[in-house]
Amino acid sequence: MKILITGGAGFIGNHCIRALLSNPAVLADKGLIAILNVDSLTYAANAREQATLANDPRYRLAKVDLRDAAAVQTQFAEFQPDAVIHLAAESHVDRSIAGPGTSVQTNIIGSFNLLEAARAHYASLDGPARAAFRVLQVSTDEVYGSLADGGSFSESSPYAPNSPYSASKAAADHLAQAWHATYGLPVITAHASNNFGPFQHAEKLIPKVILNALSGRAIPIYGDGLNTRDWLYVDDCVAALLLALSRGRPGERYNIGAANEWTNLELAKRICGILDTLKPRSQGGSYAEQIEFVDDRPGHDFRYAIDASKIRNDLGWAPRHTFDAALRSTIKWYLDSDTTPLL
Ligand SMILES: NC(=O)c1ccc[n+]([C@@H]2O[C@H](COP(=O)([O-])OP(=O)(O)OC[C@H]3O[C@@H](n4cnc5c(N)ncnc54)[C@H](O)[C@@H]3O)[C@@H](O)[C@H]2O)c1
Repeated sequence: MKILITGGAGFIGNHCIRALLSNPAVLADKGLIAILNVDSLTYAANAREQATLANDPRYRLAKVDLRDAAAVQTQFAEFQPDAVIHLAAESHVDRSIAGPGTSVQTNIIGSFNLLEAARAHYASLDGPARAAFRVLQVSTDEVYGSLADGGSFSESSPYAPNSPYSASKAAADHLAQAWHATYGLPVITAHASNNFGPFQHAEKLIPKVILNALSGRAIPIYGDGLNTRDWLYVDDCVAALLLALSRGRPGERYNIGAANEWTNLELAKRICGILDTLKPRSQGGSYAEQIEFVDDRPGHDFRYAIDASKIRNDLGWAPRHTFDAALRSTIKWYLDSDTTPLL
């Protein structure tokens, strides 16, 4: 099976490629696997993880920007994929607020270019290759907007994005779903909640808390720290994505979440507590003493919570990692690794 993955040099992408190469049987098609990673290698790409894949003959990186429509089409024409996993995005909310243009260009225009290339490729297929072709649009729970204290997002929750990031992801979802409805492109959409795990970029909350704690810096927490996120270990997310790709129904949307809701303050304190036991501060006291409240993010969504019963019931997915064990092993990874490139 030939899989064209976009954004494969990023956090989820690297984990996804590793999962595919280490166990191709995660896909329904149990044959040989070849992966083409179409990635422009922005600041968010993890060069060190990419380097570990460089000698695998089943893997190739094409340094291509999704904003370049012709270059994207060339990749499809040359590689002739059986499936597409679309992960590439400008993924950081704060950056999208500081400068929304790149999010709009990459997440909307880049996704449009990808869909058009996939559509042309799909039109050239026939027989079993056409029947089996799939495009997985990787989206976020953030497209649903913000929840108050109760309830959770289901696949029928309305789109109500609030940040430039989530609005641009919502736009990409709408394009992908329109390409299914209008052109019959076999698109499946997956909405994942907040991921965490090894080698996530230092700008994201969990690495930021760990790395700031360890380097003696302040641990910044927005507002009053009560904003709540639903956390998902990256390996569990990848397993759900690959299941959605191989067994999901075209035109359907699947929420992915593991029901691990924590306020940002609770989460930061929990990480500090684990660090206190694994690597006590040299000056004594708890890392939690480094927590500092900072001005809230504009338009900060209060709460996300995912109802993942559809992917559990229809596709048989369930998270395999408990939150505590996954958080502890993630923290250990940062403690045991040279995190210089992340700082
Ligand atoms: N990380 C999460 O918690 C999370 C949760 C839900 C959904 N998602 C979605 O999953 C996907 C992957 O997230 P991530 O955290 O791995 O992101 P990431 O920021 O770690 O990686 C993004 C990758 O996309 C590449 N990229 C960016 N712009 C590009 C362009 N114009 N052309 C080609 N490549 C480009 C980057 O080089 C990078 O390798 C994104 O679509 C994101 O919206 C992420």
